Amino acid sequence: MYIVFEGIDGAGKTTQIQILKEWLIESGFEVETIVEPTEGDVGKLIRKILQDKKASSDKVLKKLGLLFAADRLELLDKISNFEYSNKIVISDRSFYSSLVYQKPQEWIREINKFAKVPDLVLLLDLDVKKSVARSNQSDEFENEEFLKEVREKYLEIASKNLNFKVINANNEKNKVSSDIKKSVASLIGACPNQII
Ligand code: TYD
Repeated sequence: MYIVFEGIDGAGKTTQIQILKEWLIESGFEVETIVEPTEGDVGKLIRKILQDKKASSDKVLKKLGLLFAADRLELLDKISNFEYSNKIVISDRSFYSSLVYQKPQEWIREINKFAKVPDLVLLLDLDVKKSVARSNQSDEFENEEFLKEVREKYLEIASKNLNFKVINANNEKNKVSSDIKKSVASLIGACPNQII
């Protein structure tokens, strides 16, 4: 099973992934976490480019689109192997991030056609103003105008894809984690009403 967390910067993905992971382990599952961009060669190059002042220019967005797709290919075998051993894979981001952060969308879809489609995407939906206030401005995408567009694209994709669950990330941490567990519950055969 492949579960993905998506959302604009500062939505709380890292914290919520950890909480979900611990809950699943306590419930008797084996869990592996992965993150995009990866810690591999291409991932490292991506992180460097993301610091560049021109990272949101059209040309750099295309270059990044290709790099993210290449970086993601390296994860395919890893995900399959984990799934083969009956592990639940939780990922921080997926090709959906490329669809909303890079463009043009049709081309991004094409170059990511080999990427694995998640069983569940938890979209942590946060107010853009909160995102900017929480962010450490560590990359060029963390500005209000850009993130507003990204958030809208996420919500549009979520409205068209049944594997998406939109989680209100403006709520306090425990409410967010309980909403996440309820969304995961039906996938793993637990009863959503028993989750607090
Ligand atoms: P993020 O998960 O926010 O990492 P950090 O913990 O360092 O803030 O991801 C880093 C950035 O990469 C984020 O701004 C989104 C961007 N990104 C893309 O633009 N396209 C992609 O395909 C992916 C996976 C990430």
